[in-house]
Amino acid sequence: MSRRPSPAGSPAPRRALAALALLAAAAPARAWSPVAPADQGRVVLETFTPRAKMAPVQFDHWRHRARHTCRLCHVDVGFAMTAGDTRVSAATNQGGFHCGACHDGKATWRGKAIFAACGDRAAGEAEGRCQRCHARGDAEQRRRDFEAFAEGLPRRGSAGEVDWEEAELRGLVRPADFVEGVSIPRKALKMEKDVSLRSHGWMSDVLFSHKKHAIWNGCEVCHPDIFPNQKGEVRRTMLQISSGEACGACHGKVAFGLGDCARCHVKPVR
Ligand code: HEC
Ligand code: HEC
Ligand code: HEC
Ligand code: HEC
Ligand code: HEC
Ligand code: HEC
Repeated sequence: MSRRPSPAGSPAPRRALAALALLAAAAPARAWSPVAPADQGRVVLETFTPRAKMAPVQFDHWRHRARHTCRLCHVDVGFAMTAGDTRVSAATNQGGFHCGACHDGKATWRGKAIFAACGDRAAGEAEGRCQRCHARGDAEQRRRDFEAFAEGLPRRGSAGEVDWEEAELRGLVRPADFVEGVSIPRKALKMEKDVSLRSHGWMSDVLFSHKKHAIWNGCEVCHPDIFPNQKGEVRRTMLQISSGEACGACHGKVAFGLGDCARCHVKPVR
């Protein structure tokens, strides 16, 4: 992977710093500041559990994205790109949807049946199984689990998050894009063109790789919901992005954070 010019090479570093401080102050903190890698992409589902007096459900992206592509879950399985919007419930899981598309006790991963999602609370065996998802979330345990998981994977940034792109390049993770009985066989669309996005500011321009993003996301995760305009004519500010629009629909939540300026702003300053 090529190294990118640093934003410190910007012609107006003082203005840059001032603008950055302004942005950072106005935007949701988590998009900018590095999140502990074990908490990156963590979603807590608690729409239905409080009424049922069950512990909320902990969903970690890092566990799952190493095994399956974003597209598989967000298109084929149909999870929303905003926490809480899918309305996953015990019933949808037991119907074989959502978590239950894989966690049905029958589908296999590496030759072993994947533990089933919601069922009868009474059954003795089940208690421990319920708690694999329904848990209060012990931060220290999650950190240990993550470190065990990430052993041998490339890391980057001050927080030491997994460098997913590098991990895939080296073949250390190979997310599957197809699950029998869940996915509809189809031919993948191709889009090899990189899109250059003008930053319209003091910052260097952004180069967006369709080729790379399509491997993770297919086309449908981004078009038309996140990027309805296909001509690159919509201007966006970093403030919008850090509020979850455009690139910020993923970056700062599940993909690497917005503090890594030079990873996106790669083109030479004009
Ligand atoms: C195993 C399934 C699965 C995989 C694989 C997966 N996701 Fe998700 N994702 C989910 C679920 C479940 C949610 C929560 C949905 C809800 O609460 O309605 C979610 C939520 C999200 C959110 C919203 C998070 C928030 O805090 O609002 C983003 C962004 C996201 N996913 C991006 C991605 C990206 C990018 C990838 C690939 C690198 C990916 N997901 C891979 C299942 C998955
Ligand atoms: C595309 C398939 C798929 C979907 C959809 C999916 N998972 Fe998983 N999940 C897996 C696989 C495979 C494993 C590893 C299973 C194993 O180690 O036995 C796993 C592991 C887990 C673990 C780790 C548990 C442990 O004790 O190690 C949790 C927690 C979990 N999933 C929660 C969820 C939740 C919650 C949802 C729905 C919001 C969900 N998963 C949706 C495939 C999936
Ligand atoms: C693979 C993960 C997973 C496992 C394992 C799991 N659940 Fe769930 N369960 C969920 C998710 C996700 C929800 C929805 C959470 C929310 O938004 O409140 C849920 C919701 C529930 C609810 C709330 C009521 C409702 O209608 O949704 C109950 C009750 C429940 N589960 C029971 C159980 C029991 C009992 C077990 C063990 C036998 C179990 N679940 C195991 C993922 C799981
Ligand atoms: C991660 C998000 C993302 C994914 C995935 C994605 N695109 Fe795009 N696409 C963009 C962005 C960003 C632009 C620039 C337009 C804009 O700013 O709205 C764009 C622009 C385009 C354009 C117009 C390009 C031009 O130069 O006129 C086409 C055509 C397109 N995408 C097709 C696809 C196809 C086909 C796929 C799947 C193979 C795909 N896209 C996957 C984000 C994405
Ligand atoms: C995930 C990719 C990404 C990262 C990381 C990122 N940017 Fe941007 N930035 C963009 C895109 C895309 C645009 C152009 C938006 C458009 O017009 O479509 C942009 C535009 C800008 C602009 C001009 C618009 C405005 O808001 O004034 C500035 C300044 C800027 N970025 C600064 C930064 C700084 C400073 C950082 C690091 C703290 C950063 N960006 C990190 C993608 C990114
Ligand atoms: C649908 C989710 C999604 C959206 C939207 C998205 N990305 Fe990404 N992007 C990813 C994932 C997943 C990776 C893999 C690395 C990671 O997860 O940290 C990635 C990696 C990258 C990389 C490193 C690989 C490379 O191309 O060199 C850059 C740069 C990047 N994104 C820029 C952008 C920009 C700019 C935008 C907005 C125009 C954008 N992304 C929108 C999900 C997304």
